[in-house]
Amino acid sequence: MIISIIAAVSKNNVIGRDGKIPWHIPGEQKRFRELTTGKTIIIGRKSFEEIGRPLPDRKTVVLSKTKNYSAENCITVDSFSKALELLENEKEVFIAGGAEVYKAALPYAEYIYLTAIDRCFEGNVYFPDFNKDDFTVIYEQRVEGPIPYTYYTYKRISA
Ligand SMILES: NC(=O)c1ccc[n+]([C@@H]2O[C@H](COP(=O)([O-])OP(=O)(O)OC[C@H]3O[C@@H](n4cnc5c(N)ncnc54)[C@H](OP(=O)(O)O)[C@@H]3O)[C@@H](O)[C@H]2O)c1
Repeated sequence: MIISIIAAVSKNNVIGRDGKIPWHIPGEQKRFRELTTGKTIIIGRKSFEEIGRPLPDRKTVVLSKTKNYSAENCITVDSFSKALELLENEKEVFIAGGAEVYKAALPYAEYIYLTAIDRCFEGNVYFPDFNKDDFTVIYEQRVEGPIPYTYYTYKRISA
């Protein structure tokens, strides 16, 4: 199974502020939609509660030790390893955040789909440090606008 992280990160590495994403940039979430539709996402309980419902047209695995969400195409598991066990027959699984889940997934991630927002934002949740030397950039697309951003795809360099 391919494990792919997908995240949008500000210039100062912020991904969240008080439980929310601190920007709204029209069009910026298009890549998330395109990549994850029809696929499976693993998401932390806090990020899931922020969205408030399973996203349509994809399977959602919520990570939580305290809550148990279930709905059509949505289940909860209480550890990252259980999520991977459950999904072992999937071709590719997307890690949709937040920081805690990104951190758990980083050692296993083969791809990181990172949207780098070209502006600093105040926040209190950060994308975890990762060693860029372990990855090579295989895709880069800058999108101009009032708040420009760049879509990157990092691929892990095989040992
Ligand atoms: N910019 C982006 O791309 C992006 C994407 C997603 C989220 N965000 C932002 O990130 C912030 C939330 O991130 P966060 O790190 O605070 O929370 P989070 O990762 O969304 O959720 C944390 C919760 O998930 C559960 N969890 C996480 N790892 C687990 C594990 N290995 N095993 C079992 N349960 C696990 C725990 O739930 P229990 O407490 O119930 O046990 C934990 O409290 C929000 O501000 C959100 O807007 C940004």
